[in-house]
Amino acid sequence: MLQNQQQPKKILLNEAGRQNMRVAGQFNAQLMDYVRSIVRPGVTTGKIDKLIHQYTLDHGHIPATLGYQGYNHSCCTSLNDVICHGIPDDTELREGDIVNIDVTTIVKGWYGDQSETFMIGKVSDRARGVTQCAFDCLFAGIDALFPGCTVSVIGDAIVKEATRRGYSVVREYVGHGLGTKFHQPPNVPHFPDRKSRQEKILPGTCFTIEPMINSGTRFTRLDKRDGWTVRTRDKQLSAQFEHTILMTENGPEILTTTKNGPQKGHKF
Ligand code: MF3
Ligand code: CO
Ligand code: CO
Repeated sequence: MLQNQQQPKKILLNEAGRQNMRVAGQFNAQLMDYVRSIVRPGVTTGKIDKLIHQYTLDHGHIPATLGYQGYNHSCCTSLNDVICHGIPDDTELREGDIVNIDVTTIVKGWYGDQSETFMIGKVSDRARGVTQCAFDCLFAGIDALFPGCTVSVIGDAIVKEATRRGYSVVREYVGHGLGTKFHQPPNVPHFPDRKSRQEKILPGTCFTIEPMINSGTRFTRLDKRDGWTVRTRDKQLSAQFEHTILMTENGPEILTTTKNGPQKGHKF
């Protein structure tokens, strides 16, 4: 989400709320495994969107992005130099592409949110490298978490990992709290800033980590024609992975782990 969006007050979930978020996260992950089965060369991003829409409704749930602030699709499909919020259309996926597919579902009023970058067929070393870095940055952020930590441990870990490997971290779009709303406090920047150094992640906090990693500079450009698509300013590649996380008394719990997708430590 956009960094400076206004937000209501922060929310700590009790056991019932946590259980609802687990159920929502599990369905969203099941949807991501379905996405995995349909992503291949030749399929259009619009077709992927239609299938996500149908799968979600068939299971009795609601695509959260549909109608969200005027957005009219059931997912975001961000191809190559698109950082985030790519709009599904008649573009066919081609061998060598990388595409981030971001799905968010409302399950009985509770939100699950996650994304993965998919490599289409054989891709360049550059494309593989930025995908691997975004994946490892997500887990660097998760591994830094502990009950009562500050939000900034996430950004510290991610910037350190990305910089060490020669990649840059997008700043304009950040992770976010979620629960019965799509976006709520805390703001979760993938770089440390003043507010994140003060804000604590207490048990019962539910939020996303969703680093956008660029192979060139960190700078972004919003498409003026559609008002959504965010691209790298230098037209180089960008990749992203996202999980929904619940902080518990015993540490972080990933709510959107897939059955068939890459797990922590995966080598692409
Ligand atoms: N799923 C995105 C996120 O991770 C938000 C997409 S909002 C949309 O925060 F309107 F662009 F779909
Ligand atoms: Co999100
Ligand atoms: Co998302």
